Amino acid sequence: MANTISYLVLFYMFSDCLTQCSQNDIKNGDSPPIKTLNFTQIAAQVGYAVNEYDVTTQDAYILKLFHIPGDKTKPVLLMHGIIDSADTFILRGNTSLAVTLSRAGYDVWIGNTRGNRYARRHIYLHPENDVEFWDFSFHEYGLYDLPAIIDFILDQTGEASLSAVGHSQGSTNFLVLGALRPDYNEKVKVLVALSPICFLANVKNVASLMLQSVSILDQIYQITGQEELFGDETSLGQLFRAVCGCKGSYSVCAYGIFFPVAGSDPEELEPDFFPTIVAHYPTGTSRKNAVHVSQLGIKEKFSNFDYQWRNVDIYNSTTPPEYELSNVTMKVALLVGRNDQISTIKDVELLRSKLPNVVEYKIIHHKKFNHIDAVWGRNMYKYLFPEILKVLKNI
Ligand SMILES: *[C@@H]1O[C@H](CO)[C@@H](O)[C@H](O)[C@H]1NC(C)=O
Ligand SMILES: *[C@@H]1O[C@H](CO)[C@@H](O)[C@H](O)[C@H]1NC(C)=O
Ligand SMILES: *[C@@H]1O[C@H](CO)[C@@H](O)[C@H](O)[C@H]1NC(C)=O
Ligand SMILES: *[C@@H]1O[C@H](CO)[C@@H](O)[C@H](O)[C@H]1NC(C)=O
Repeated sequence: MANTISYLVLFYMFSDCLTQCSQNDIKNGDSPPIKTLNFTQIAAQVGYAVNEYDVTTQDAYILKLFHIPGDKTKPVLLMHGIIDSADTFILRGNTSLAVTLSRAGYDVWIGNTRGNRYARRHIYLHPENDVEFWDFSFHEYGLYDLPAIIDFILDQTGEASLSAVGHSQGSTNFLVLGALRPDYNEKVKVLVALSPICFLANVKNVASLMLQSVSILDQIYQITGQEELFGDETSLGQLFRAVCGCKGSYSVCAYGIFFPVAGSDPEELEPDFFPTIVAHYPTGTSRKNAVHVSQLGIKEKFSNFDYQWRNVDIYNSTTPPEYELSNVTMKVALLVGRNDQISTIKDVELLRSKLPNVVEYKIIHHKKFNHIDAVWGRNMYKYLFPEILKVLKNI
């Protein structure tokens, strides 16, 4: 019942958007949504040259890795969150995190996880034709994608370890890595976890409804045989862009979708910038990844994927094993916001209590700091980035 209601709510939001957008388009004779530039092009606009590399994982996915060269002895890897990409760290141009770190002298590497617009490639599987391509969740991001990316960077720089910044699910991936591949704890000097995701027992309001509604989405997707979620060419991705990418949809899409889910902070995500976000976000992930995230919320445990009746075959146990957080021995800094509806203070404090090596725990000063400000906020170069630089410097 609750599921049906939440699905109706989501449907209502979308249909409302659709009307709003087309009315506005007619009224203003709007130009089509702004063009999606790629990471390298955005960096070039603010005067930064980017190297692009292809990194191949142990299980043959090919991931694009961006690099803004700096002091080779100070590599920093940035990892994006769910249905996001490297772009998120450069969208704000000269006030973005990638540029801020580069300006401070760091050798900045920006990664992508399998399935997004920069990582929809595999040596022998095809994303359109092979459903196996989409058989992954954040488990594989941590188990395969991060090791390949980290080893590539350490090889290029000749360093023994790197610093890392993860936003949202970007930090989850590192927790999985540290739990499953203990030798990588030494390769991460420190993880700065922005709005980290691990436990999702206290997710608020609409974000919680959204987690619950994943099971409905899952059923629809299974029936229709779709495995790619929010990909650039999928109907859901295109619908979203068509609806929210035009001028005038800010009130409906920011106030109707982004703010209820992530926490409201209109000062930090202003109408002028909103179309830029929509041109780049979301990008693809797998159905399985969304389901795995929703399982964290439903079970209130940080566990491997729950295959239900197949668990016994796969895990030799009726329940999936939990990720061993006590094995995540890398240094971790946890930065959270009071107004974050997804990564709530309660859940992050629980994570803090389970991790053996938390070097910093900080509630960001800015009172309305929500789940998306860390990457898209207009003034983060004032509120947040100095905190990140401080952690990186003091390690
Ligand atoms: C980004 O765009 C530039 C210029 O069009 C192109 O050379 C480059 O290959 C593109 N990179 C990616 C990852 O798409
Ligand atoms: C970013 O660039 C704009 C325009 O060139 C400039 O006014 C602003 O001060 C710059 N911001 C930072 C943090 O460097
Ligand atoms: C976690 O650490 C314990 C103690 O060092 C070890 O016995 C166990 O195998 C580790 N788990 C994993 C998944 O590596
Ligand atoms: C499966 O689990 C049972 C009970 O915990 C154990 O006795 C058995 O050795 C396990 N089998 C395998 C193949 O690991």
